[in-house]
Amino acid sequence: MTARQEQTPYLDALCDYARRKPARLHVPGHKGGPGADRGLLEAFGERALSLDIPALTYGVDVGMEPSPFEQAQLLAAEAWGAKRAWFLINGASQGNLAAGLALAHRGSEVVVQRNAHSSTIDSLVLSGLRPTFAAPEVDPELGIAHCLTEETLARALDDTPGAVGAWVTSPTYFGAVADIRSLVEVAHAHGVPLIVDEAWGAHMAFHEGLPEHALAAGADLVISSTHKIVGSLTQSAMLHLGHGAGEVIGEDTVDRAVTLTESTSPSSLLAGSLDAARRQAAVHGRELLTNTMAALVLARAEIQAIDGLDVLDDRLTGRPGVFAYDPLRLAVDVRGVGASGYELAPMLREIGDINLELYGQNVLVAVFGMGERGLPEASRLVAALRTAAEWVGPDLGGGQASFAAPPPWGELAMTPREAYLGPQEVVPASQAAGRIAAESLATYPPGIPNVLPGERLSAETLAYVQSTLELGGSVRGASDRLLRTVRVVLEH
Ligand SMILES: Cc1ncc(COP(=O)(O)O)c(C=O)c1O
Repeated sequence: MTARQEQTPYLDALCDYARRKPARLHVPGHKGGPGADRGLLEAFGERALSLDIPALTYGVDVGMEPSPFEQAQLLAAEAWGAKRAWFLINGASQGNLAAGLALAHRGSEVVVQRNAHSSTIDSLVLSGLRPTFAAPEVDPELGIAHCLTEETLARALDDTPGAVGAWVTSPTYFGAVADIRSLVEVAHAHGVPLIVDEAWGAHMAFHEGLPEHALAAGADLVISSTHKIVGSLTQSAMLHLGHGAGEVIGEDTVDRAVTLTESTSPSSLLAGSLDAARRQAAVHGRELLTNTMAALVLARAEIQAIDGLDVLDDRLTGRPGVFAYDPLRLAVDVRGVGASGYELAPMLREIGDINLELYGQNVLVAVFGMGERGLPEASRLVAALRTAAEWVGPDLGGGQASFAAPPPWGELAMTPREAYLGPQEVVPASQAAGRIAAESLATYPPGIPNVLPGERLSAETLAYVQSTLELGGSVRGASDRLLRTVRVVLEH
């Protein structure tokens, strides 16, 4: 870490602007507070509103070279070890959209890990790229999808000689981390860049006890959801270009794609929070992560001691598709107690106002940030889990049940873009089997599409999505959120 990382040039420039009490003859109309609704002013505070200024403000984004905004991005690139970093104001979702558009400059085919986030699929719709899907390893015991192996990636690239990139996800929602070094080797041997959706791994750059992060392992373009664990404001994220990416993916192309996918009024609050979160991660990240990781070791042990409960942890490492495990997600395996994750989640809210990141039939996932000093939340979760487990008692046969793996993915009959934009109709879900979907169906949790635009629907998948809804989950991407109807392609 260099002394430069102590600085927050963009945040400082924002604060200087607000301190000067300038004549704000520009947007936004709240004018730094005086024009705002009283409730908003009370809730957010005058200070926050005074820092909410437009892009191209003199002394903040323009007027010097490099501007404070550019300096902040340079510091972020340095902190993560990137050739260049872009601040994103539409989440890691924007990073995925931009990545697809950047790739589409090079050609029309791409290899994509099938359990990608829905924003990757949206990117295929926007870019028109034709995906060859590479199947992740599905855990035979837990039924959850992990990462891609290098053999699977190599096979998919062999089958797609026109591919212009390989696009993988690591870590997964459940904390499985891929062998990025080997995936980079495979991609480069096929002459294509490796794009890593590392939305869940922005913190991994700041502690040697965590799995190696994608840029350090040689990835070419890395999507990072900085807000998730590193703790910038919700919706702020970064896109990083790797040092070795020069020949395979162009900086200018990425730059244009970032511009195309963002508002012309990016939020200064989001950008300021990225500048500050980068400083905290670079300067204090190691110490903060040491504390958080130690507290989570303890919490995992306490949860395992509760009758019927287990945790996902480093024991996963070495299973197919799991090169390493990221401990900052606390995934609780609830198969051994007499209630599902859907039933336990509201119980935990009732017992201790515990609000989880994700819950499903057999698992609860709590997310911990890098800066949780003292971590009172972990002991609160453990105490509430103990009470809930006592309420529901053990499920003696349930410990062997799988994590309810979703059915196999359907055949891709046309590109996601062709299906999304082409002629289509809405049919009752009961008549949709065999038709080509014109929309995504992604059961939440965990938001990984079960069906993509362009894929043929099966009765099995429709029943799976329906049963997730009945159990208390939801479905993203569907025009009918209750799945009474499905939008399908009109085939001639
Ligand atoms: C793997 C993955 N990629 C991308 C995203 C999108 O991130 P954001 O919510 O910052 O747009 C998510 C969100 O959960 C994700 O899990």
